[in-house]
Amino acid sequence: MSNYHIKHLEEYFNVYRKSVRDPELFWEEIAEEHFVWRKRWDTVLEWDFKKPEIKWFQGAKLNITENCIDRHLAANGDKTAILFEPNDPAELAQQITYKQLSERVNQFANVLKSKGIQKGDRVCIYLPMIPELAISLLACARIGAIHSVVFAGFSSTALATRINDSDCKMVITADGSYRGSKAIDLKGIVDEGLTHCSSVESVLVVKRTNAAIKMIDGRDEWLQPILDDASIVCEAEIMDAEDPLFILYTSGSTGQPKGMVHTTAGYMVYTAYSFKNVFQYRPNDIYWCTADIGWITGHSYIVYGPLANGATTVMFEGVPSYPDCGRFWEIIEKHKITQFYTAPTAIRALAKEHMDFVTKHDLSSLKVLGTVGEPINEEAWHWYNDNVGKKKSPIVDTWWQTETGGIMISPLPGITATIPTYATLPLPGIQPALIGDDGQEIKGNQVDGKLCIKFPWPSIARTIWGNHDRYRETYFSAYENMYFTGDGALRDEVGYYRITGRVDDVIIVSGHNLGTAPIEDAINEHPAVAESAIVGFPHDIKGSVLYGFITLKETGEGRNHENLRKEINQIISEHIGSIAKLDKIQFTAGLPKTRSGKIMRRILRKIACNEMENLGDISTLLNPECVDEIIKERL
Ligand code: WTA
Repeated sequence: MSNYHIKHLEEYFNVYRKSVRDPELFWEEIAEEHFVWRKRWDTVLEWDFKKPEIKWFQGAKLNITENCIDRHLAANGDKTAILFEPNDPAELAQQITYKQLSERVNQFANVLKSKGIQKGDRVCIYLPMIPELAISLLACARIGAIHSVVFAGFSSTALATRINDSDCKMVITADGSYRGSKAIDLKGIVDEGLTHCSSVESVLVVKRTNAAIKMIDGRDEWLQPILDDASIVCEAEIMDAEDPLFILYTSGSTGQPKGMVHTTAGYMVYTAYSFKNVFQYRPNDIYWCTADIGWITGHSYIVYGPLANGATTVMFEGVPSYPDCGRFWEIIEKHKITQFYTAPTAIRALAKEHMDFVTKHDLSSLKVLGTVGEPINEEAWHWYNDNVGKKKSPIVDTWWQTETGGIMISPLPGITATIPTYATLPLPGIQPALIGDDGQEIKGNQVDGKLCIKFPWPSIARTIWGNHDRYRETYFSAYENMYFTGDGALRDEVGYYRITGRVDDVIIVSGHNLGTAPIEDAINEHPAVAESAIVGFPHDIKGSVLYGFITLKETGEGRNHENLRKEINQIISEHIGSIAKLDKIQFTAGLPKTRSGKIMRRILRKIACNEMENLGDISTLLNPECVDEIIKERL
């Protein structure tokens, strides 16, 4: 018998020990008892971190939508699968039952087929948080097409880069999107992006804002009329366990985003299992994750994990501050939310608002609170615990990554004793290790180091689309036989983990991962810019913000700095999106470099963070004199 649902601490320790002693048996039992398969696997796990190659449930055949939808129909067809809360509170919420979801997914899948989409084709999805977003993911999965969701806050250039990287054949978008009081011209962004893409044959457009948009003959079509004609029956494509399910791009240390590839069976098993345990999900719960499906959190814990458990999952189209800063709390009261999963940046922003926004709502339905995306500071943790959870809803501080597919380190609510800022203990099957500067694993407690994972888990990304070398290089080359996370962590005296932050060139702004390289590449396109370096520095609400140090070409000298700052941020918005704009821009005559010419971001980071007393030895720099000037003119 598998231990699918862990109920107390002793059971957790037993299950954890079993998962480490015999991982294959552990996952095999879970896969066997809690999912439907068209054919059983031949082997549970084959792996080699050197190649790297990881295969779970090889030989098995399945379709993830049969697990997320069809199997719930007999007993729970009338249960709400997706509860959609629109941007405007005056618009009615929509309840989509499992039966309706099945019909809508099948119709959509038939539309995809009628447009020539086949198994293995890539479909780019660029949609607001409306039901069609979740439905389009599932429709792709139904027919074995690989979805690549691009967060609808990315610019046309960023969208085009992602479409081209995986040669998407189709784009699914909307006429526009609502964000609070603003309407955004999504279709215009797609049109602009597609001038740089040759692989896209068709564009399906969902009507949302009724904005007047341009439709290109022979390429663009409104979705609804074709959907209306499509059959509500669509046979599920039978997939291999290791067939790709989706690509999701994340930032890296070079300009090109990394298209992380997740495959079918392992991803399904792990997201379902982790959802059940981390949220202690029970059949009548109403679960709400506020993330956007454009990020991994939305893929795993709005769509696949909850639906695989037959849960009711809430999708919210709007923003926490519209029509006022009580919107989250109003929605919790309105829908009697039981589990609420959000980001530290949202908590910090809302904690600054008047307490009336919170206290006027009845939050007594809540049982579990969650956070994800960045370290949560102690103050925000306490505010969340005291005012939202009223000290009776445990907070699960969940650590994981786009690459890990599912939650890796997290308390189990009501089971693991929580400590503010600690992600606490690994989930069953997850074997963390801390690595010291000498490259060796640090055993024992009260230690810190670089966080690695020693053994594969079912939802680990299998490759980077089109670039397996980069996958090996980024994740498996730093330490032998280990997956390197890019994060630092400490392990306290009882073995709890606390994630201390990135140890690479990724900066997390409002929960969004931003690589320094793509931003610097964008800035360097400005004709007046010679060179740039971006570092992060702390911010009350956003966690971190970006500080840019920029040297100008001769042609740029004497130009008005305020205008230059605006132009530089404009270029960043165009290349990446406004989430990557710089908070501060300091123009400087030089950037500190090593003798081999590498920019010393470490020094710039200390200056940006006002930690000048421990800059370390700068005498070995190529140009130590520039450091004084940079300090003097620090913003
Ligand atoms: C950070 C989001 C501290 C971390 C699911 C990680 C966290 C990166 C936490 C992945 C947490 C995520 N505590 N840091 N609870 N959760 N992070 O790919 O640096 O968008 O490597 O996945 O966010 O971000 P990603």
